[in-house]
Amino acid sequence: MSSIIEVKDLVLVYSDGTKAVDGISFDVQEGEFFGFLGPNGAGKSTTIKILTTLLRKTSGSATIAGYDVSKEAAAIRKIIGVQSQETTVDGDLTGRENITLQGHFHQMNGNDIKNRVNELLHLVGLEEAAEKRARNYSGGMKKRLDLATALVHKPKILFLDEPTTGLDPQSRSAIWTYLEKLNKEDGITIFLTTQYLEEADKLCKRLSIIDAGKIVASGSPAELKREIGADSIRISLENCQKDNAKAKELIKSMTDVNEILDSEECITVYAKNAGLLIADIVRALDSSDIRIASVTFSSPSLDDVFMKHTGKRIRTEELVKAPSAMFGGRR
Ligand SMILES: Nc1ncnc2c1ncn2[C@@H]1O[C@H](COP(=O)(O)OP(=O)(O)O)[C@@H](O)[C@H]1O
Ligand SMILES: [Mg+2]
Repeated sequence: MSSIIEVKDLVLVYSDGTKAVDGISFDVQEGEFFGFLGPNGAGKSTTIKILTTLLRKTSGSATIAGYDVSKEAAAIRKIIGVQSQETTVDGDLTGRENITLQGHFHQMNGNDIKNRVNELLHLVGLEEAAEKRARNYSGGMKKRLDLATALVHKPKILFLDEPTTGLDPQSRSAIWTYLEKLNKEDGITIFLTTQYLEEADKLCKRLSIIDAGKIVASGSPAELKREIGADSIRISLENCQKDNAKAKELIKSMTDVNEILDSEECITVYAKNAGLLIADIVRALDSSDIRIASVTFSSPSLDDVFMKHTGKRIRTEELVKAPSAMFGGRR
């Protein structure tokens, strides 16, 4: 396998001084499903904009299929498809017209474009809605139309910036199915950004976790979770402020405890065999008159990986439920 995306010490400082990307390095292999996981404001969109030649880097280097992002933009644009975070759907046009228009931008004509549009409408399940104006599409349908539009010229590499943010779980899982199909059956390399741990875990073969412009961890989801090496026990106390220090002191002395961190519940304990430890913890706190509100226990998740490296949890946006998203105004 060879690297199809190579990024080294990449930096982007916006004109107002914001250092949105702060020296990141990573490689993506040909045919890989690669993820960039991070909270809002981490620098995901900025990175995608540099890699897709929409934004000039401040320093460092980045190549796509060997082409330099600063010098060979035209060559790169021919082989990549981009789904940006904001929809590019034209509400006045039908779904079919939106994809066809994009094909014309890529100099596709005649039967070539006709057949390709039919294929794509089928892929993203928009055949029945194909002749409806896109402004009447739901949020999920617009995202699917965006995806089809990005694929019109059969790109080798697909860049997706939060393709499922704001969608309901059903629309999200529909998109996951199309993406897996594109990657597995058509061998398209996919670079995807997401705020959803579950999504990165399900789709990505490898991922980097990004926070405040820096990569804090990289690897396969399994490797990253294995690095935690322990289950987590989240303990919520009735009076966290008062009892936090004392509780941590009691738990620290127990065997098999790897690490104790303050967390939003109150305390998170990382330990091997957490199932067995819970009883000890409950007993010890109880006999010291520390009142427990709840205890939850889980196997390592990417959330724990993020927590370990940043001390925070990834917060995801509220799901968009408003009907206004379905019947948005004219663009
Ligand atoms: N045009 C801009 N000018 C100045 N700062 C920006 C601009 N666009 C984004 N930022 C800032 O850069 C940081 C990274 O933003 P972004 O790449 O959009 O993050 P993400 O996509 O991970 O949410 C944030 O602090 C954001 O406020
Ligand atoms: Mg973004």
